[in-house]
Amino acid sequence: MLVLDDLRGEGREWRQSMSVSTEANGGMRLERGMRCPVSSPPEDSVRANPARVYDAWLGGKNHYAVDRIVADRIAAVTPFVVAGARANRAFLRRAVTYLVRIGVDQFIDVGSGLPTVRNVHEVARRVNPTARVAYVDLDPVVLAHARALLATDEHTIVVEGDARNPRAILTDPALTAHLDLSRPVAVLFVAVLHFLTDTDDPGAVVDAFRRAMAPGSHVVISHVTPGEPGQESGMAQAVGLCASGAAPFTPRTRAQVRQLFTGFELVDPGVVPAQRWRPHGPQARTVLPIIAGVGRLHGAGATPPRRGISSRRRCTVTDPPT
Ligand SMILES: C[S@@+](CC[C@H](N)C(=O)[O-])C[C@H]1O[C@@H](n2cnc3c(N)ncnc32)[C@H](O)[C@@H]1O
Repeated sequence: MLVLDDLRGEGREWRQSMSVSTEANGGMRLERGMRCPVSSPPEDSVRANPARVYDAWLGGKNHYAVDRIVADRIAAVTPFVVAGARANRAFLRRAVTYLVRIGVDQFIDVGSGLPTVRNVHEVARRVNPTARVAYVDLDPVVLAHARALLATDEHTIVVEGDARNPRAILTDPALTAHLDLSRPVAVLFVAVLHFLTDTDDPGAVVDAFRRAMAPGSHVVISHVTPGEPGQESGMAQAVGLCASGAAPFTPRTRAQVRQLFTGFELVDPGVVPAQRWRPHGPQARTVLPIIAGVGRLHGAGATPPRRGISSRRRCTVTDPPT
């Protein structure tokens, strides 16, 4: 296995062949033998990063050659991964639009990922310009980009946090100063809970947030599945590729994902393939292995708007295209 210094020493002459490596706490690494068109890579460009790999699938620009190679490698065994990533992101936008239209004006985006096109605060503000967002991630690369590109005004903050430690997130002084958790909030776990193992107990994580939420709050979850018939072996290979790297993931069935909504009332149409959650137009016929839903915490009527926000301002924009 090559590490950073080895790669630098070898300059541009890395031969073809790579794999996602085994490493407990680092990123996916290149193995000896890969050709990569980067001569003097910055330190964080020699190791693939899961958030940047996802950015590559989304067609973003915040990734390096190494991320692209890993993205392609995974896409080779799961050709539907690019469509799945885009369907996931489109779901996120539709869910946020739905929530802000019904009056939710505070969001905690857990596992927010790298800034991309139409981030949560941008989507929310098309409907309510004063919507407040706290982006939370544990990845230093994500946090650095997010602080530069997302936390650009008083309505948006970026908080370092690990979903496996809900209490630390919910008591973070910056977050509690930014959001009023005595009022309804939407907590987004979009394409992040599959990075939690069964031992991490994602159900307990969601439940810890639920217990801190005011009535009328919502949870938004999307999650990778083991795949439809014809997709399962590719998914299994992708799981194997990532199993011992920095981003091992655990696909879960629809029943298991539905369980994560325990204590919430599912908003129609329930837990469905992400592309089928309130779509705005015709969707791909192939069912992609990512499912999604939105749950509402009972106990209150309409979500009260924050003072100073008129209902006209909250509901004047048509759905953005997905
Ligand atoms: C696939 S990206 C999803 C980004 C965004 N939520 C979306 O759906 O477009 C997953 C993100 O989750 C973050 N992540 C993974 N495990 C996490 C954890 N335990 N706590 C917080 N963030 C985590 C990663 O750093 C990455 O930025």
